[in-house]
Amino acid sequence: MVFDFNYVRQTDPAVFDLAQKEARKQVEQIRLIPSENYASAAVLQALSTSFANKYSEGYANRRYYEGQEFVDQLELLAIERAKKLFGADHANVQPYSGSPANLAVYFALLKPGDRVMGLGLSGGGHLTHGARINFSSVYYESHPYSGGEDGWLDFERIREQALEVRPKLLIAGGTAYPRLWDFEAMGKIAHEVGAYFLADIAHINGLILGGVHPDPVPHAHAVSSTTHKMLRGPRGGLILCKDVPLHGVEGEDAQKRINRIPGRIDRAIIPGIQGGPHENQVAALAVALEEASRPEYTEYARQVVANAKALAEGLLERGFHLVTGGTDNHLILMDLRNKGIPGWRFAKVLYEAGIEANMNSVPNDPNPPLKPAGVRIGTPAVTTRGMKEPEMAHIARWFGDLADAMDGETVTRPDVVAKVRGEALELTGSGRFPVPGIEC
Ligand SMILES: Cc1ncc(COP(=O)(O)O)c(C=O)c1O
Repeated sequence: MVFDFNYVRQTDPAVFDLAQKEARKQVEQIRLIPSENYASAAVLQALSTSFANKYSEGYANRRYYEGQEFVDQLELLAIERAKKLFGADHANVQPYSGSPANLAVYFALLKPGDRVMGLGLSGGGHLTHGARINFSSVYYESHPYSGGEDGWLDFERIREQALEVRPKLLIAGGTAYPRLWDFEAMGKIAHEVGAYFLADIAHINGLILGGVHPDPVPHAHAVSSTTHKMLRGPRGGLILCKDVPLHGVEGEDAQKRINRIPGRIDRAIIPGIQGGPHENQVAALAVALEEASRPEYTEYARQVVANAKALAEGLLERGFHLVTGGTDNHLILMDLRNKGIPGWRFAKVLYEAGIEANMNSVPNDPNPPLKPAGVRIGTPAVTTRGMKEPEMAHIARWFGDLADAMDGETVTRPDVVAKVRGEALELTGSGRFPVPGIEC
């Protein structure tokens, strides 16, 4: 273990015990949830620095509390690193997470009731992209777009819908889309209909940094992200944006900070929707950005995609149906209807066998969200552990064996589940694939 947590152990054995169990599980399991990863020991340590004790409402040199000399330097460092790494005009590193980052963009650029157009939930969009029960649909008028029957997005169809709807905000990005986003096309559509363009890169930030996914920064007014998924930072959020005036503002007014997108975004975060930033989270983000600027990270991103493609190939060989027929990024969306196995049930059996995945709706899923037909898997975490194509072949074989051991919801061959669990434990316990931050 990198940390022995001896103070936690002495003060609170109950929390210590749970933390130990969680750490052990994270080492033993094969983690295929595409939104999860392992933060480095340096990132985890930065989270427990004394920045956790500080209140810092405001921004550098504009705070409401005294004692900010080191917090200011820290936040400016994180901002500079984010701007440089992503090539953005402006960065806000204070969002508590990905959802507040998106809320802030809405708050900055729209008025309640304005029209928004994002990818629908069942097509792989996020709740904050206009889902019926989310603020993004309750306080704004949501007109979701979807992919075709095969799950692929058709950017010409999105354009036609946008020309009809005339949204104020067009959103690209999602949680379960296994292909590349054409951010240039989305930017052109937004421009044509007079909308702001938000690219939410929560899932694919690392792929963009690694040069294996198109970059939205040149095309989007704002780019939002989480910081914990592929980026391997702390749980948190990030907003990047262009330094341009708001739509319709011209002349001298266009030079005023509050009439420009960076000013609006900053004011939306605080005082708009948040209070004091979590500066320990900002410290950990600064560390993660430094790590992501290294050549090893580019190689990591390339391997994430190579692993996803290898895993998809192995699954196709075992007769699984994959939405869009495969993947170009870090994730795979499996539609298990052709196997006669409910997705939610397969996710549970995978877990019993030592493999963590998550149930997920598939395009045009006839089932309710808590009993979906699909399973979503991805390769960021196993790639962080150093797994490569040969291990992906093992995993694909295990998926096939487990599906063959089921009949509908029933496991007909529990011995197969036990066998896969044994083999998975052997792989994760072999010492060849350490978990950064837990066992290095
Ligand atoms: C595309 C996308 N945006 C936003 C979010 C929200 O992030 P958080 O869960 O940190 O609020 C997620 C999280 O899954 C996501 O996938």
